[in-house]
Amino acid sequence: MKILMAASEAVPFAKTGGLADVVSALALALAKQGHEIRIIIPRYYSVDRTRLTALEGALGVPMGGGEEWCEVLTATLPGSPKNNPIEVYFIDHEKYFGRDGIYGIPSEPDFLDNPRRFTFFSRAVFQVCRKTGWFPDVVHAHDWPAALVPVFLKYAERKGGFEKTVSVLTIHNLGYQGIYHKDNYNHTGMGWEIFYNAGFDDWNMMNLLKAGLCSADTINTVSPHYAEETKTQHYGFRLDGILRYRAEDYRGILNGIDTDLWNPRTDKLIPQTYSEKDMAGKLKAKEALQKAYDLPPDPKVPIIGLISRLTGQKGVGELFGPSFGSAYSFCRDMNLQFAILGTGEAWCENELRSLSSRLSNLKAKIGYDESMSHLVEAGSDFFLMPSRYEPSGLNQMYSLNYGTIPIVRNTGGLTDTIENFNQETGAGTGFMFDDPTPNAIYNTVGWAVWAWYNRRPQIEAMRIRGMSQDFSWAKSAKQYIEMYEWTRKKQGITK
Ligand code: ADP
Ligand code: GLC
Repeated sequence: MKILMAASEAVPFAKTGGLADVVSALALALAKQGHEIRIIIPRYYSVDRTRLTALEGALGVPMGGGEEWCEVLTATLPGSPKNNPIEVYFIDHEKYFGRDGIYGIPSEPDFLDNPRRFTFFSRAVFQVCRKTGWFPDVVHAHDWPAALVPVFLKYAERKGGFEKTVSVLTIHNLGYQGIYHKDNYNHTGMGWEIFYNAGFDDWNMMNLLKAGLCSADTINTVSPHYAEETKTQHYGFRLDGILRYRAEDYRGILNGIDTDLWNPRTDKLIPQTYSEKDMAGKLKAKEALQKAYDLPPDPKVPIIGLISRLTGQKGVGELFGPSFGSAYSFCRDMNLQFAILGTGEAWCENELRSLSSRLSNLKAKIGYDESMSHLVEAGSDFFLMPSRYEPSGLNQMYSLNYGTIPIVRNTGGLTDTIENFNQETGAGTGFMFDDPTPNAIYNTVGWAVWAWYNRRPQIEAMRIRGMSQDFSWAKSAKQYIEMYEWTRKKQGITK
């Protein structure tokens, strides 16, 4: 099958979160199963132009009533199978993407012209296919920045090569929908009747994700449990009605992890590799982590790691909220260490700086640091994810693979990947709690630390159990193929 991934991020080129990992890892898993995959993303400043090859000639893209021009660059996705390389296409337009930042500059408001930037990007997807004479069986769009792709396909582009193409839209995060003033709709160049028919209208604003969810042939999200949650008012971010309405066409497929990149048995970013059979490298990583974070060098004290976008979704209010956050209390009350890596909301970054200076056992690094994130995963004993909601979550799966025990809220993909510790039988792979409150976090961290000091054999057995679980992409990629085939059949495409 020919599959085109359209997204705003893909590793190793551009990343703010798990979306980037998933786009590339899924593409690689599909290519390994023999499918022909291409990826299209914008070319931001972070992508070094000199490493890319330019396609000859400019690309004309319909915008508003007219046309705008850009360049198209290409590169092969690193890690691609030799006999089936994945080509990545980059939309290079100085006006829209020639700047630092993907959606905005970290800890500042998003770029004001995002609706225009991603309308241009989504429309360019079709023109790149025409230019290269390659028409996909499935165009697979990810999240709100590419949500216009299925809309254009349905209302403007099912012609000139796309007659047999079907669309899939994946929700990675319902909390971000791309809601803008409806004047921005003019950039699509489509008539106003389509604004209403395609589902753009959102209380007189324009909602890109909503239009995508109404227009895509099939929609899915990144875990079965989150698919169920999003159909409820509590987790639905006002789109639960649409998701219930489209329930027949809506699935949950759990993300995998790229075990070529996230694997303690081969990881080049940690001091010494390790495996279930020889855990010496994990202690080395703990030592290196304590050093890197300026924490007292003590192997007996458990370290809790946290790597996160510092935003409400991730539970940072309950953890670090000035005057009510639980982190200060559990660091003060318990014999543990807490190593944090993150970037995000300004208040939280400031609070973390302040906590790091007040507590000797809590240290935070503010910033985005890929290689440090591997050291935190490997060197920590526990990994904390107190998310308010979590569509899939990757770090808990990385943690399991690194023998680092997750402490998570029982929600979304965390529910699908972690089994709660049972202190009677010793079963389980992590520590879970239900309430999104500072108290619940405090108590569950306390439970984990108690088990560390009092049930050590059970903790060690749990680590090994986590390490032997299989979260590689092969299984989920098969489910995606099945979903693509089902979509084609449903749309009456037999070729
Ligand atoms: P989300 O996509 O909601 O942020 P995920 O758990 O799916 O959550 O993925 C987050 C990804 O981003 C992981 O690969 C994680 O290691 C990475 N990440 C987040 N913040 C940082 C950071 N400050 N430095 C390095 N990696 C980070
Ligand atoms: C989102 C979600 C996260 C998920 C990632 C990749 O950003 O917040 O849970 O793992 O997308 O699908």
